[in-house]
Amino acid sequence: MQAQSIPDPYSLALEDIDVSEAELFETGAHHRYFKRLRDEAPVHFSKTGPTGPFWSITKHADIMSVDTNHRVFSSKGNIGVGDQPEFFQPTNFIQKDPPEHDEQRVAVAPAVKPQQLSQLESMIRERIGSLLDQLPVNEEFDWVDKVSIELTTQMLATLFDFPWEDRRLLPYWSDVATATEAFSNTSLGEEKRQQIVLTEMLPYFTKLWHERAAQPPKFDFLSLLAHNPKTKNLIDDPLDFLGNIGLLIVGGNDTTRNSMSASVHLLNEFPDQFAKLKSDPSLIPNMVSEVIRWQTPLAHMRRTATEDIIFQGQKIKKGDRVVMWYVSGNRDEEVFENADDFIIDRPNARRHVSFGFGIHRCMGNRVAEMQLRILWEEILERFDRIEVLAEPKRVPSSIVMGIETLPVRLVAKE
Ligand code: HEM
Repeated sequence: MQAQSIPDPYSLALEDIDVSEAELFETGAHHRYFKRLRDEAPVHFSKTGPTGPFWSITKHADIMSVDTNHRVFSSKGNIGVGDQPEFFQPTNFIQKDPPEHDEQRVAVAPAVKPQQLSQLESMIRERIGSLLDQLPVNEEFDWVDKVSIELTTQMLATLFDFPWEDRRLLPYWSDVATATEAFSNTSLGEEKRQQIVLTEMLPYFTKLWHERAAQPPKFDFLSLLAHNPKTKNLIDDPLDFLGNIGLLIVGGNDTTRNSMSASVHLLNEFPDQFAKLKSDPSLIPNMVSEVIRWQTPLAHMRRTATEDIIFQGQKIKKGDRVVMWYVSGNRDEEVFENADDFIIDRPNARRHVSFGFGIHRCMGNRVAEMQLRILWEEILERFDRIEVLAEPKRVPSSIVMGIETLPVRLVAKE
């Protein structure tokens, strides 16, 4: 489907609507499609789809019902609308059900628990401040490259206690892991992906794992896995090892990066909201939630039905793909008044579904929010404003709501 040929959703028969088309998201056309589904077919069946038919769940309340019912709606195997290629499939705990899911999640969760994050806060603030101090003022640069990617990389390197000078390997491996048609609409080719992961990422992390296993336990992801009785043998299963390390990198990478870029873009698009923020910086935490609601960095998560079920009057059959469109739940007018507007003091911004719900609820939500909060506290300390100089280039994907480039100019305080 070419961007200019995207039909008006109201000109289509309901059964011909397929909201998994990446071009809908690249152009922003998806919002009208989801509005029609919410109003007319909130549990909608599409016969097409990237790898077969799928159900779309588009209302906030229904998304919560599916996300909190992991017994009937399983995460096993695939969590994107399209199935992963059979060729090379590392496994990880976001794609598992209990008890395996719980054991692996519990092992790594202490790295991002509130006490641990408050210990890291002053170091993170210092690093953010120093990056901002090095940015060019009054000249054009790409915010995504110089700030969003670099700060997200620093955050991941901190959580892994990763060798600092090698930290750019993390977003590189994240890009390799997600370079599939199903994830980002771009494909490196399965053999190439496998080769990079097995010959570069596996030896690197294996070495690091053995170092951490030989040292006293610490709170970084690798040390936690290497010392937990339930996961200390993970290294013996290279696909599960790689998959879980990959999840911890990918889970935090595009999502946090795109929230940072979106925050700059949104505060330009809605200048009254930026004025409100400047006059009351205590609104930053709520603004962060509103950015994450509005942007919805992951548009959807998919489940597979484990049994036949009647859901909101529709007959979902065992084995059917069931896609929760967070990007639609976050614009549900029954929950969010004037849902398409960006309102930094929106009283219920935190009710967004961008982090999911239930046993798979995002493990890194607090760390992502903390990064964004500190970033804006430090920006307001230093600059008068950030001017966006051109429309952002969006990622063509039905899952990653991303911004590839965002040219900006910083204006210093008087
Ligand atoms: C799971 C979104 C940041 C690690 C998820 C899920 C979503 C999500 C939608 C699946 C929820 C579900 O299926 O119910 C986001 C967003 C982020 C973000 C919007 C930033 C704004 C992070 C960060 C990390 C992280 C910084 C860690 C470094 C994970 C992990 C899971 C996960 C490990 C799997 C949890 C499980 O299966 O139990 N995230 N995420 N995320 N996220 Fe995040």
